[in-house]
Amino acid sequence: MIYNRLTNSILVLLFSISLTSLFGQDQAAIEAGKTLFKNKCASCHNKDMKTKMTGPALGGAQERWGDDVALYSWIRNSQAMVSKGHPRAVAIFNEFNKGLMTSFPELTDADIVNILGYINCTAAGNCPGDAPPPPPTDLGGDTASSGGQGNNSLLYVFLFVILALLAFILARIISNLNHMAAVKELGAEAPPRKTLAEILTSKGMVSFAIFALIVFGGYFTVRNAINLGRQQGYQPEQPIKFSHTLHAGVHKIDCNYCHDGARRSKQSVIPAANTCMNCHKAIKVGSEYGTAELTKIYASIGYDPKGDTLIKNYDKMTDKEIEALYKGWISENYITEKGKMDGEGEALLASQWDGIVASLTDKESGDDKIQGPIEWVRIHNLPDHVYFNHAQHVTVGKVACQNCHGKVEEMDVVKQYSPLSMGWCINCHRQTEVKFADNKYYDNYYEMYHEQIKDNKRSKVTVEDIGGTECQKCHY
Ligand code: HEC
Ligand code: HEC
Ligand code: HEC
Ligand code: HEC
Ligand code: HEC
Ligand code: HEC
Repeated sequence: MIYNRLTNSILVLLFSISLTSLFGQDQAAIEAGKTLFKNKCASCHNKDMKTKMTGPALGGAQERWGDDVALYSWIRNSQAMVSKGHPRAVAIFNEFNKGLMTSFPELTDADIVNILGYINCTAAGNCPGDAPPPPPTDLGGDTASSGGQGNNSLLYVFLFVILALLAFILARIISNLNHMAAVKELGAEAPPRKTLAEILTSKGMVSFAIFALIVFGGYFTVRNAINLGRQQGYQPEQPIKFSHTLHAGVHKIDCNYCHDGARRSKQSVIPAANTCMNCHKAIKVGSEYGTAELTKIYASIGYDPKGDTLIKNYDKMTDKEIEALYKGWISENYITEKGKMDGEGEALLASQWDGIVASLTDKESGDDKIQGPIEWVRIHNLPDHVYFNHAQHVTVGKVACQNCHGKVEEMDVVKQYSPLSMGWCINCHRQTEVKFADNKYYDNYYEMYHEQIKDNKRSKVTVEDIGGTECQKCHY
């Protein structure tokens, strides 16, 4: 009997292990594919896998090729496949006006499997763990929580039910076999076989069920309570594909140029379109999206990129007039580049204009006017009962933006790096030393602590020492 129970539990255990590892592997592979895609492919292939950019939309590419060997060769060296005359290679090459795709000889088969896995699940909208991975440091000890999680838990429940069923059926088979063996050995004296109801209501089973309920219930309640209203890892799609990698990273524009508030005031402030115009009066056609993204800035404030003027009474212009103006700009640029307007140009014109309208209006909130400020989606948001001041940290405390926001200059799309939990603030206040040296803000404290440091009574002064963990400093 003991042996019997043991096999049952081992079976269940084995199943749960294979479940988690299978799932974990799958998700890790997709994550790896996503990273590769972002680093190597996203500059030319749209990450929604449905719209074309410099290169075609990659959703369904694997089916279109049919032959994985050829497809892998294409990704490693597309030109070689064109020279060989592979029909799909030649067709797509001509369709894209002989645009050149970069060669990736360094990609292993496993890399390509992962990239294609990511492409396929993104096109189908069913990637496991759509939630972004947690950032490297986790001072508050919280876990990330954001979009996609709902889907995921449903999948887990589904898999769990299936596996539980399987385990149950196997247990039944084992019990039947045992019973048959017992009958063979002991004949009529064999103990009667337990019925299903007997098994399900047995003491062991009931106590296990109660135990499992408590553990799961407790776990999810605590987790959800902690994350209520928090959103570490939050990375919403913004109305304009504004990239910090490009501006703050590649072009090294200082954070303060745009977020001027950070060193002067409580709020860091998102720059107004005027700030963008300091440069985009001159840079009117981007090398990545052409007119698609930059025209959004012009259409929001009423800047005429052809005449280089701000339109008077832009607010009174009708939607038709606005459409004519900016479509004129987009097609002029297309013609300049391609020589004449053609079918492809018309399609591009229509899709760019739709994108501009969709980004500058919001049907849900009833904002159907193209005119008006760009509505960036707010990412960081502390609850109202917390007082946080940027200038105090940036100017007085001399804390770098990256300590709290991560490497923003490497983010194409900004995401919330820190948990913004109370534990996170307090931890840093306990650990961070106040920088007294030539900092006039500390004159008051200086006298007091200076003596103590001189007398070796104290080796350092942390933010906590100057009152950084007092409730009323952070709470109204
Ligand atoms: C420099 C731009 C560029 C980069 C980077 C790039 N591609 Fe491409 N890709 C293209 C262009 C352009 C085409 C269309 C064919 C042509 O003109 O060569 C294409 C075509 C393809 C096709 C064929 C699609 C079809 O429908 O047949 C696949 C698959 C593909 N790319 C995969 C990738 C992958 C995977 C990566 C990243 C590892 C990548 N590409 C990176 C520009 C690029
Ligand atoms: C050219 C202007 C510009 C520069 C330079 C710039 N930013 Fe931004 N930043 C923006 C815009 C526009 C947004 C809003 C859109 C977005 O989230 O991408 C933003 C958003 C942010 C956000 C998220 C705000 C929120 O909604 O919670 C953070 C954090 C941020 N920037 C930090 C930085 C840091 C750190 C640097 C320097 C490394 C920097 N930015 C440089 C323009 C800029
Ligand atoms: C200090 C100068 C400067 C400021 C300010 C600036 N940009 Fe840029 N921006 C650039 C440069 C340089 C490029 C690269 C142009 C290129 O590669 O074609 C660029 C590229 C872009 C692109 C990509 C265009 C494409 O199709 O490749 C977008 C979108 C963009 N900026 C939006 C903005 C927005 C929105 C703001 C205001 C929040 C802003 N920029 C402020 C200099 C600036
Ligand atoms: C000590 C941590 C810390 C530092 C340092 C820091 N921030 Fe922030 N930042 C935050 C927090 C917390 C919020 C959310 C504020 C809120 O919701 O009221 C925030 C919000 C923002 C926002 C959104 C708009 C706003 O003000 O709410 C931007 C943009 C931003 N920070 C940019 C910067 C830049 C640029 C720097 C560097 C010059 C910087 N931050 C330095 C913690 C920090
Ligand atoms: C990366 C480290 C760091 C993080 C994270 C951080 N702080 Fe601070 N904080 C500092 C430093 C350094 C100072 C000292 C500045 C000074 O001397 O006034 C400070 C000072 C303060 C002060 C003034 C304390 C006083 O006694 O005058 C307040 C209020 C404050 N922080 C609030 C917050 C809140 C709220 C958060 C979380 C949302 C937070 N801080 C997160 C580093 C941090
Ligand atoms: C350094 C800044 C800081 C100090 C000091 C601080 N808090 Fe908080 N507190 C926060 C932040 C930030 C949040 C919001 C956390 C979140 O949204 O998850 C918070 C949230 C809370 C909440 C709401 C519950 C929650 O977790 O969201 C309570 C209650 C609270 N604090 C009480 C206190 C008390 C009592 C003290 C003094 C012992 C204190 N706080 C000191 C920053 C601080």
